[in-house]
Amino acid sequence: MNILSIIENKVNKRALSEEEIRFFIDGYVQQEIPDYQIASLLMAIKLHGMNPTETAHLTMAMVHSGHTMDLSSIEGIKVDKHSTGGVGDKTSLVVGPLVASMGMKLAKMSGKGLGHTGGTIDKLESIPGLTTSLTEAQFLQQVQTVGMAIIGQTKSLVPADKLLYALRDVTGTVQSIPLIASSIMSKKIASGAQTILLDVKYGNGAFMKTIEEATVLAKAMVAIGQTLGRDTRAILSDMNEPLGLTIGNRLEVKEAIATLQGQGPKDFTALCVEAAAVMAVQAKLFATYEEASPHVEHQLISGKAYQTFENFIHAQGGDLHVFSIPSLHETHTELPIIVAQSGYVTSIHALTLGLLSVSLGAGRLTKEEIIEYNAGIVLLVKPGDKVRSGDRLCTLYSNKSLQKEWATQALKAFTIEEKAPKVAISTLQMIQ
Ligand code: URA
Repeated sequence: MNILSIIENKVNKRALSEEEIRFFIDGYVQQEIPDYQIASLLMAIKLHGMNPTETAHLTMAMVHSGHTMDLSSIEGIKVDKHSTGGVGDKTSLVVGPLVASMGMKLAKMSGKGLGHTGGTIDKLESIPGLTTSLTEAQFLQQVQTVGMAIIGQTKSLVPADKLLYALRDVTGTVQSIPLIASSIMSKKIASGAQTILLDVKYGNGAFMKTIEEATVLAKAMVAIGQTLGRDTRAILSDMNEPLGLTIGNRLEVKEAIATLQGQGPKDFTALCVEAAAVMAVQAKLFATYEEASPHVEHQLISGKAYQTFENFIHAQGGDLHVFSIPSLHETHTELPIIVAQSGYVTSIHALTLGLLSVSLGAGRLTKEEIIEYNAGIVLLVKPGDKVRSGDRLCTLYSNKSLQKEWATQALKAFTIEEKAPKVAISTLQMIQ
């Protein structure tokens, strides 16, 4: 077997065997196959795709490229969730404590944000004192005692994905369903949980722009998980509008705390309850989603989920005092965005505000950039709200000096029309 024949097979639209897939993954990780040959193969895969069996083999070859997490010492059902990323997406900060407060064990590894989508690790690291680098023993111990832990991706887990992703990024091969699905699922499988819930987002602020593309990706990932013996399900959620009312790390943590205390925005609370209820069904705590939902809501109202959140944050060294003092918002620049005409807010473009939040300092465009934790955007309106000329639509917070284009960009994100829009109530869209 050699890499040229594997490339030729894919160019000729043939399915690759398990051995061929292992050969190129192992050869690449061991630096026996050069970048240019793997880049050529990735392009052939992007153009001709992979069938579900090939995609599952690719996922497992990537899993076997490194260390895998053994969660067997933890008692209970080990659960995991993953979001494909969005603007204002702080779901894990609420869903984690919700499911842990119900007795599930959440052992989660997360990534940092890049571009317009934020990352859970950045949000957690905006909490003073909190560490996301635990040893494996500390991680397992915390999941056992607190019910949850969230740490950064360890270097030893799925090294093949780090190498392949970096190469895909510079060779125009990121947008490929089998490559995205195997990249995400290899990390989830290597993390060891028994059940996996995927929150696959669609819309202008998401990786997948349409619900059709998101459905194809969700089905591919669910098929991989099921083939590999993990209860894997996906929910599809709208990312045309920012989630909740905040974008930016500390602002989002503050909103997650309010949500855990039963005072969160409707859209964000609904998504968290939906995700936690599906996870409770996966963990077999309830037979149906309809049965699970009221129990999940009770965990919010009773304060039990918030108590678990506090335990989790304290176990990882975090100090939550900063979130109860008004100076949280204190930044060098605070810019109110005022609407000129009266009418109804019919849409708020997530991507535009996501990119603006990066300019304000709340996100990064390169891995090396430093994030400003207090920076971000607070929305005062959501689609469907009536506004009058002179009302504030949102406030921008930044430690950079004021730039003229910020206000123009922020205003562009809001569509104001005379007629009230029909605001759709989100309903569960599940792939299983
Ligand atoms: N996220 C990942 O982890 N991998 C991809 O390929 C795309 C998004």
